[in-house]
Amino acid sequence: MADQARHPEEIHRSEAAYFDAQAATLERAGWRLDPAVVARYLRPARFWFNKEYRFRRLGEVRGLRILDVGCGLGDNAILLASHGARVTAVDLSPRSVELARRRAARAGLAEPPEFVCAPLERADLPEAAFDVIWGDGVLHHVLHDLDGVLRCLARAARRDARFLFSEPVDRVPGLRRLRLLLPVPPDGTPDERPLREAELRRIRRWVPDLRVRPFSFAGRLNRFLLPGGAYESAGALRRAAADGLCLADWIALGVPGLARLGGMAVLEGHLRDAARAASPRVLADAGPAQADAGV
Ligand SMILES: C[S@@+](CC[C@H](N)C(=O)[O-])C[C@H]1O[C@@H](n2cnc3c(N)ncnc32)[C@H](O)[C@@H]1O
Repeated sequence: MADQARHPEEIHRSEAAYFDAQAATLERAGWRLDPAVVARYLRPARFWFNKEYRFRRLGEVRGLRILDVGCGLGDNAILLASHGARVTAVDLSPRSVELARRRAARAGLAEPPEFVCAPLERADLPEAAFDVIWGDGVLHHVLHDLDGVLRCLARAARRDARFLFSEPVDRVPGLRRLRLLLPVPPDGTPDERPLREAELRRIRRWVPDLRVRPFSFAGRLNRFLLPGGAYESAGALRRAAADGLCLADWIALGVPGLARLGGMAVLEGHLRDAARAASPRVLADAGPAQADAGV
């Protein structure tokens, strides 16, 4: 579905409707950010977990200006602000942003994030303002205009700003087709799909020193081990099993020939400025703007 051309407005409407409905469900469940989670990422010890790895890579954030792209319910924005960062967070789902604002207010932060509700491509963001551009599972929702979105990010970024994203990836042709044969339907919006090699090449045009650290091969089973994905509230045995799976992934996916088996990747580097990334020479090196057909 993600490869069929739809008008961007239509995609934005359907994305907002999907995430509005999800926010409404979580709101009814009285969902809140567990203080144990805040503590976990303040001192991220277990680098074999994707998000702890990213918080370790980020290091000290106090005083940094961070843009959280596709912030959803604000988990990362609140975590980063509670560690002393000055956060601006953007999302196109009004209900998610409303809930994120309320959760941030309840967290009693010295400097709460500023939340902006708009599609990133149209958000009114300051230019050359951010030290870090952070995103968690959002680039695979904007495949219809990946270059347009990266251009907006490059404009908002300070010179040589850090780029730190986590995204689902599909780097072994055929593996996802096998996955789709399983009787467990994939959840998500009609316009999303994991990033393929062609899109990683596009991102490298904007982030020339891009490093791709794979996660989550065996770790995909954690969704069955940790109810609701919550590590903190799971029993000791479940936590030990999740640690074991993720540690095994960390070791196995570090082997060059196996790295592409990871279902998630941390994408890290420094954003190059918008003018240089859009030069015809760099554009040509990156190949076609759209994903390779049928890969
Ligand atoms: C998978 S969710 C991730 C949410 C959050 N980053 C997290 O980790 O919980 C993807 C988010 O991207 C947002 N999104 C999708 N397309 C967007 C766009 N063009 N501009 C801004 N936000 C967008 C959705 O509303 C949704 O909240």
